Amino acid sequence: MSGSFDHLHPRVREVAGKPDKERIAWLQVDRWVKLDRSEAALAQLEALLAYPTRGRMPCLLIHGTTGMGKSEILERFHERHPWSIDTKTGRETLPVLLAEMPPEATEIDFYEAILDQLNYRQRSSGTARERRGQVIAVMADAGVRVLMLDEIDKMLGSTPRQQKLFLNSIRYLTNQLRIPIVCAGATGARLAIRTDPNLADRFASFELHHWQKGRALKQLLALFSMSLPLRKPSDLTTSEMQDEVIKMTAGVTGRIFRLFEALAIAAIVSGREQIDLGSLRDEYLLLPLVSMEVQKSEDHAVAGYLFGDAG
Ligand SMILES: Nc1ncnc2c1ncn2[C@@H]1O[C@H](COP(=O)(O)OP(=O)(O)O)[C@@H](O)[C@H]1O
Ligand SMILES: [Mg+2]
Repeated sequence: MSGSFDHLHPRVREVAGKPDKERIAWLQVDRWVKLDRSEAALAQLEALLAYPTRGRMPCLLIHGTTGMGKSEILERFHERHPWSIDTKTGRETLPVLLAEMPPEATEIDFYEAILDQLNYRQRSSGTARERRGQVIAVMADAGVRVLMLDEIDKMLGSTPRQQKLFLNSIRYLTNQLRIPIVCAGATGARLAIRTDPNLADRFASFELHHWQKGRALKQLLALFSMSLPLRKPSDLTTSEMQDEVIKMTAGVTGRIFRLFEALAIAAIVSGREQIDLGSLRDEYLLLPLVSMEVQKSEDHAVAGYLFGDAG
Protein backbone atom coordinates (compact mmCIF):
# COMPACT_ATOMS: atom_id res chain seq x y z
CA MET A 1 0.00 0.00 0.00
CA SER A 2 1.45 3.33 -0.99
CA GLY A 3 0.67 6.67 0.65
CA SER A 4 2.37 8.71 3.30
CA PHE A 5 -0.56 8.94 5.74
CA ASP A 6 0.51 12.33 7.01
CA HIS A 7 -2.60 12.59 9.16
CA LEU A 8 -1.32 9.78 11.38
CA HIS A 9 1.20 9.59 14.16
CA PRO A 10 4.55 8.48 12.65
CA ARG A 11 4.42 5.16 14.51
CA VAL A 12 0.97 4.32 13.17
CA ARG A 13 1.71 5.18 9.52
CA GLU A 14 3.33 1.84 8.89
CA VAL A 15 0.34 0.02 10.42
CA ALA A 16 -2.05 1.91 8.13
CA GLY A 17 -0.34 0.32 5.10
CA LYS A 18 -0.91 -3.23 6.37
CA PRO A 19 -3.67 -5.59 5.17
CA ASP A 20 -7.13 -5.17 6.73
CA LYS A 21 -6.88 -8.28 8.87
CA GLU A 22 -3.65 -7.11 10.46
CA ARG A 23 -5.01 -3.63 11.09
CA ILE A 24 -8.07 -5.09 12.80
CA ALA A 25 -5.91 -7.34 14.96
CA TRP A 26 -3.78 -4.31 15.84
CA LEU A 27 -6.89 -2.40 16.93
CA GLN A 28 -7.93 -5.25 19.18
CA VAL A 29 -4.77 -5.18 21.27
CA ASP A 30 -5.13 -3.40 24.62
CA ARG A 31 -2.92 -0.37 24.96
CA TRP A 32 -2.44 1.92 27.90
CA VAL A 33 -3.30 5.52 27.05
CA LYS A 34 -1.89 8.29 29.20
CA LEU A 35 -5.17 9.94 30.08
CA ASP A 36 -4.81 12.94 32.39
CA ARG A 37 -6.91 11.33 35.09
CA SER A 38 -5.25 7.94 34.99
CA GLU A 39 -1.80 9.55 35.04
CA ALA A 40 -2.84 11.69 38.01
CA ALA A 41 -4.01 8.56 39.85
CA LEU A 42 -0.72 6.82 39.08
CA ALA A 43 1.19 9.82 40.41
CA GLN A 44 -0.74 9.57 43.68
CA LEU A 45 0.07 5.88 43.90
CA GLU A 46 3.77 6.60 43.34
CA ALA A 47 3.61 9.20 46.11
CA LEU A 48 2.12 6.63 48.48
CA LEU A 49 4.86 4.14 47.62
CA ALA A 50 7.49 6.78 48.42
CA TYR A 51 5.77 7.93 51.61
CA PRO A 52 8.00 7.66 54.69
CA THR A 53 6.95 5.11 57.30
CA ARG A 54 4.87 6.77 59.99
CA GLY A 55 2.53 5.77 62.74
CA ARG A 56 -0.55 6.47 60.64
CA MET A 57 -0.13 5.85 56.97
CA PRO A 58 -2.33 7.60 54.40
CA CYS A 59 -4.61 5.40 52.29
CA LEU A 60 -6.44 5.98 49.01
CA LEU A 61 -9.79 5.05 47.56
CA ILE A 62 -10.08 5.26 43.77
CA HIS A 63 -13.74 5.27 42.88
CA GLY A 64 -16.04 5.64 39.91
CA THR A 65 -18.61 3.58 38.01
CA THR A 66 -17.85 0.39 36.11
CA GLY A 67 -15.71 0.91 33.04
CA MET A 68 -14.05 4.13 34.21
CA GLY A 69 -10.58 2.56 34.27
CA LYS A 70 -9.99 1.77 37.95
CA SER A 71 -8.66 -1.75 37.44
CA GLU A 72 -6.46 -0.57 34.58
CA ILE A 73 -4.78 1.92 36.90
CA LEU A 74 -4.13 -0.65 39.63
CA GLU A 75 -2.81 -3.18 37.14
CA ARG A 76 -0.58 -0.63 35.51
CA PHE A 77 0.89 0.38 38.87
CA HIS A 78 1.35 -3.25 39.84
CA GLU A 79 3.22 -3.94 36.58
CA ARG A 80 5.51 -1.01 37.22
CA HIS A 81 6.64 -2.54 40.51
CA PRO A 82 6.98 -6.28 39.93
CA TRP A 83 8.72 -8.98 41.94
CA SER A 84 12.43 -8.33 42.05
CA ILE A 85 15.38 -10.22 43.43
CA ASP A 86 18.36 -8.75 45.23
CA THR A 87 21.41 -10.41 43.72
CA LYS A 88 23.45 -9.96 46.91
CA THR A 89 21.01 -11.35 49.44
CA GLY A 90 18.86 -13.48 47.13
CA ARG A 91 15.81 -11.93 48.75
CA GLU A 92 12.71 -11.64 46.61
CA THR A 93 10.45 -8.67 47.20
CA LEU A 94 7.11 -7.49 45.91
CA PRO A 95 6.71 -3.77 46.64
CA VAL A 96 3.14 -3.49 45.35
CA LEU A 97 0.66 -6.25 46.11
CA LEU A 98 -2.60 -6.31 44.17
CA ALA A 99 -5.12 -8.60 45.83
CA GLU A 100 -8.53 -9.57 44.55
CA MET A 101 -11.45 -8.84 46.77
CA PRO A 102 -12.84 -12.22 47.87
CA PRO A 103 -16.47 -12.98 46.90
CA GLU A 104 -17.38 -12.99 50.59
CA ALA A 105 -15.97 -10.16 52.66
CA THR A 106 -14.64 -12.39 55.40
CA GLU A 107 -11.38 -11.81 57.15
CA ILE A 108 -10.05 -15.29 56.38
CA ASP A 109 -10.86 -15.08 52.65
CA PHE A 110 -9.18 -11.70 52.53
CA TYR A 111 -5.99 -13.15 54.05
CA GLU A 112 -6.15 -16.07 51.64
CA ALA A 113 -6.38 -13.64 48.71
CA ILE A 114 -3.24 -11.89 49.92
CA LEU A 115 -1.33 -15.15 50.43
CA ASP A 116 -2.38 -16.28 46.93
CA GLN A 117 -0.70 -13.24 45.43
CA LEU A 118 2.45 -13.94 47.42
CA ASN A 119 2.48 -17.56 46.17
CA TYR A 120 2.50 -18.68 49.76
CA ARG A 121 1.51 -22.29 50.22
CA GLN A 122 2.01 -23.31 53.83
CA ARG A 123 -1.28 -21.86 54.99
CA SER A 124 -2.12 -21.85 58.61
CA SER A 125 -5.55 -23.32 59.22
CA GLY A 126 -5.93 -21.68 62.59
CA THR A 127 -8.16 -18.91 63.86
CA ALA A 128 -8.52 -15.57 62.10
CA ARG A 129 -6.10 -14.15 64.62
CA GLU A 130 -3.42 -16.72 63.87
CA ARG A 131 -3.85 -16.20 60.16
CA ARG A 132 -3.61 -12.48 60.57
CA GLY A 133 -0.25 -12.98 62.26
CA GLN A 134 0.85 -15.19 59.39
CA VAL A 135 -0.24 -12.68 56.75
CA ILE A 136 1.61 -9.88 58.48
CA ALA A 137 4.79 -11.97 58.72
CA VAL A 138 4.60 -13.06 55.08
CA MET A 139 3.86 -9.54 53.80
CA ALA A 140 6.71 -8.07 55.84
CA ASP A 141 9.03 -10.77 54.54
CA ALA A 142 8.05 -10.00 50.92
CA GLY A 143 8.76 -6.32 51.53
CA VAL A 144 5.24 -5.24 50.52
CA ARG A 145 5.05 -1.44 50.72
CA VAL A 146 1.61 -0.82 49.23
CA LEU A 147 -1.39 -3.15 49.41
CA MET A 148 -4.05 -2.63 46.73
CA LEU A 149 -7.49 -4.14 46.80
CA ASP A 150 -9.75 -3.96 43.75
CA GLU A 151 -13.56 -4.19 43.64
CA ILE A 152 -13.94 -3.21 47.26
CA ASP A 153 -17.64 -2.53 46.59
CA LYS A 154 -18.19 -6.30 46.60
CA MET A 155 -18.13 -5.93 50.34
CA LEU A 156 -21.46 -4.07 50.20
CA GLY A 157 -23.12 -7.43 49.53
CA SER A 158 -22.25 -8.76 52.97
CA THR A 159 -23.84 -8.05 56.33
CA PRO A 160 -22.99 -4.85 58.25
CA ARG A 161 -21.25 -6.96 60.87
CA GLN A 162 -19.11 -8.70 58.24
CA GLN A 163 -18.30 -5.34 56.68
CA LYS A 164 -17.20 -4.02 60.03
CA LEU A 165 -14.91 -6.98 60.66
CA PHE A 166 -13.52 -6.65 57.17
CA LEU A 167 -12.73 -2.96 57.61
CA ASN A 168 -11.14 -3.83 60.94
CA SER A 169 -8.77 -6.22 59.21
CA ILE A 170 -7.81 -3.52 56.68
CA ARG A 171 -7.12 -1.12 59.52
CA TYR A 172 -5.14 -3.76 61.34
CA LEU A 173 -2.90 -4.42 58.33
CA THR A 174 -2.15 -0.75 57.66
CA ASN A 175 -1.39 -0.17 61.34
CA GLN A 176 0.76 -3.24 61.89
CA LEU A 177 2.70 -3.11 58.65
CA ARG A 178 2.69 0.68 58.44
CA ILE A 179 1.91 0.63 54.76
CA PRO A 180 -0.67 2.54 52.73
CA ILE A 181 -3.69 0.58 51.53
CA VAL A 182 -5.32 1.45 48.23
CA CYS A 183 -8.86 0.37 47.46
CA ALA A 184 -10.73 0.73 44.19
CA GLY A 185 -14.42 0.32 43.61
CA ALA A 186 -17.77 1.81 42.75
CA THR A 187 -18.57 5.05 44.49
CA GLY A 188 -20.86 3.28 46.99
CA ALA A 189 -17.76 1.82 48.62
CA ARG A 190 -16.97 5.26 49.95
CA LEU A 191 -19.95 5.12 52.28
CA ALA A 192 -18.84 1.75 53.64
CA ILE A 193 -15.37 3.07 54.43
CA ARG A 194 -16.88 6.12 56.08
CA THR A 195 -18.65 3.89 58.59
CA ASP A 196 -15.28 3.20 60.17
CA PRO A 197 -14.23 6.55 61.69
CA ASN A 198 -10.61 5.45 62.00
CA LEU A 199 -10.39 4.65 58.34
CA ALA A 200 -12.58 7.50 57.12
CA ASP A 201 -10.08 10.22 57.84
CA ARG A 202 -7.20 8.16 56.60
CA PHE A 203 -8.62 7.39 53.16
CA ALA A 204 -8.24 10.18 50.64
CA SER A 205 -10.66 9.83 47.77
CA PHE A 206 -9.84 10.01 44.08
CA GLU A 207 -12.82 10.00 41.76
CA LEU A 208 -12.79 9.04 38.10
CA HIS A 209 -15.45 11.32 36.69
CA HIS A 210 -17.46 10.55 33.59
CA TRP A 211 -16.17 12.32 30.51
CA GLN A 212 -17.84 15.53 29.50
CA LYS A 213 -17.56 17.76 26.51
CA GLY A 214 -14.46 19.90 26.76
CA ARG A 215 -10.70 20.10 26.56
CA ALA A 216 -9.86 16.62 27.88
CA LEU A 217 -12.37 14.87 25.62
CA LYS A 218 -11.15 16.88 22.65
CA GLN A 219 -7.62 15.80 23.42
CA LEU A 220 -8.66 12.14 23.54
CA LEU A 221 -10.53 12.45 20.24
CA ALA A 222 -7.52 14.14 18.67
CA LEU A 223 -5.47 11.17 19.78
CA PHE A 224 -7.92 8.80 18.08
CA SER A 225 -7.73 10.88 14.89
CA MET A 226 -3.97 10.37 14.87
CA SER A 227 -3.69 6.83 16.11
CA LEU A 228 -6.44 4.76 14.50
CA PRO A 229 -4.77 3.16 11.45
CA LEU A 230 -7.21 4.50 8.84
CA ARG A 231 -5.98 5.62 5.45
CA LYS A 232 -8.00 8.82 5.18
CA PRO A 233 -8.02 11.65 7.72
CA SER A 234 -10.96 12.01 10.16
CA ASP A 235 -11.65 15.06 12.26
CA LEU A 236 -13.03 13.61 15.45
CA THR A 237 -12.66 16.70 17.61
CA THR A 238 -15.65 18.69 16.41
CA SER A 239 -18.28 19.90 18.82
CA GLU A 240 -20.96 17.67 17.21
CA MET A 241 -18.73 14.61 17.44
CA GLN A 242 -18.11 15.30 21.13
CA ASP A 243 -21.85 15.56 21.76
CA GLU A 244 -22.56 12.29 19.95
CA VAL A 245 -19.78 10.41 21.73
CA ILE A 246 -21.07 11.49 25.13
CA LYS A 247 -24.60 10.56 24.14
CA MET A 248 -23.61 7.10 22.98
CA THR A 249 -21.25 6.22 25.83
CA ALA A 250 -22.58 8.20 28.82
CA GLY A 251 -18.97 9.40 29.13
CA VAL A 252 -17.70 6.01 30.37
CA THR A 253 -14.02 5.52 29.45
CA GLY A 254 -14.25 1.85 28.49
CA ARG A 255 -17.24 2.50 26.26
CA ILE A 256 -15.48 5.38 24.48
CA PHE A 257 -12.51 3.12 23.73
CA ARG A 258 -14.76 0.33 22.51
CA LEU A 259 -16.84 2.70 20.42
CA PHE A 260 -13.79 3.94 18.52
CA GLU A 261 -12.39 0.47 18.14
CA ALA A 262 -15.72 -0.56 16.56
CA LEU A 263 -15.85 2.59 14.41
CA ALA A 264 -12.32 2.02 13.12
CA ILE A 265 -13.01 -1.64 12.33
CA ALA A 266 -16.22 -0.66 10.51
CA ALA A 267 -14.28 1.95 8.51
CA ILE A 268 -11.75 -0.69 7.47
CA VAL A 269 -14.31 -3.37 6.60
CA SER A 270 -16.47 -0.99 4.58
CA GLY A 271 -13.47 0.52 2.82
CA ARG A 272 -14.51 4.05 3.85
CA GLU A 273 -11.25 4.47 5.75
CA GLN A 274 -12.49 7.40 7.76
CA ILE A 275 -14.89 8.20 10.59
CA ASP A 276 -17.45 11.00 10.58
CA LEU A 277 -20.83 11.72 12.15
CA GLY A 278 -22.49 9.40 9.61
CA SER A 279 -20.35 6.48 10.84
CA LEU A 280 -21.94 6.81 14.27
CA ARG A 281 -25.32 5.94 12.80
CA ASP A 282 -24.05 2.83 11.09
CA GLU A 283 -26.06 -0.21 12.14
CA TYR A 284 -22.96 -2.37 12.23
CA LEU A 285 -21.94 -0.44 15.31
CA LEU A 286 -25.01 -1.32 17.27
CA LEU A 287 -23.64 -4.79 17.90
CA PRO A 288 -20.82 -4.00 20.31
CA LEU A 289 -22.79 -1.20 21.93
CA VAL A 290 -25.81 -3.38 22.56
CA SER A 291 -23.65 -6.10 24.07
CA MET A 292 -22.20 -3.41 26.30
CA GLU A 293 -25.67 -2.58 27.58
CA VAL A 294 -26.41 -6.23 28.32
CA GLN A 295 -23.20 -6.57 30.28
CA LYS A 296 -23.91 -3.40 32.23
CA SER A 297 -27.48 -4.23 33.10
CA GLU A 298 -26.16 -7.14 35.14
CA ASP A 299 -24.50 -4.60 37.35
CA HIS A 300 -27.23 -3.17 39.56
CA ALA A 301 -25.28 -0.13 40.62
CA VAL A 302 -24.71 0.86 37.03
CA ALA A 303 -28.23 -0.01 35.94
CA GLY A 304 -29.45 2.33 38.67
CA TYR A 305 -27.12 4.97 37.43
CA LEU A 306 -28.34 4.58 33.85
CA PHE A 307 -31.95 4.88 34.86
CA GLY A 308 -31.19 7.88 37.00
CA ASP A 309 -29.27 9.39 34.15
CA ALA A 310 -32.10 8.89 31.67
CA GLY A 311 -34.74 10.41 33.95
N1 LIG B 1 -5.73 4.59 30.51
C1 LIG B 1 -6.37 3.74 29.69
N2 LIG B 1 -5.83 3.41 28.50
C2 LIG B 1 -6.47 2.58 27.67
N3 LIG B 1 -7.66 2.03 27.90
C3 LIG B 1 -8.27 2.32 29.06
C4 LIG B 1 -7.67 3.18 30.02
N4 LIG B 1 -8.50 3.29 31.09
C5 LIG B 1 -9.57 2.53 30.78
N5 LIG B 1 -9.45 1.94 29.58
C6 LIG B 1 -10.42 1.07 28.90
O1 LIG B 1 -11.59 1.01 29.70
C7 LIG B 1 -11.93 -0.35 29.98
C8 LIG B 1 -12.50 -0.44 31.37
O2 LIG B 1 -11.48 -0.19 32.32
P1 LIG B 1 -11.44 -0.91 33.75
O3 LIG B 1 -10.15 -0.54 34.40
O4 LIG B 1 -11.75 -2.35 33.63
O5 LIG B 1 -12.65 -0.17 34.47
P2 LIG B 1 -13.20 -0.34 35.94
O6 LIG B 1 -12.24 -1.18 36.72
O7 LIG B 1 -13.30 1.06 36.47
O8 LIG B 1 -14.55 -0.97 35.79
C9 LIG B 1 -10.65 -1.13 29.78
O9 LIG B 1 -10.92 -2.44 29.39
C10 LIG B 1 -9.94 -0.35 28.72
O10 LIG B 1 -10.39 -0.77 27.45
MG1 LIG C 1 -12.58 -3.04 37.60
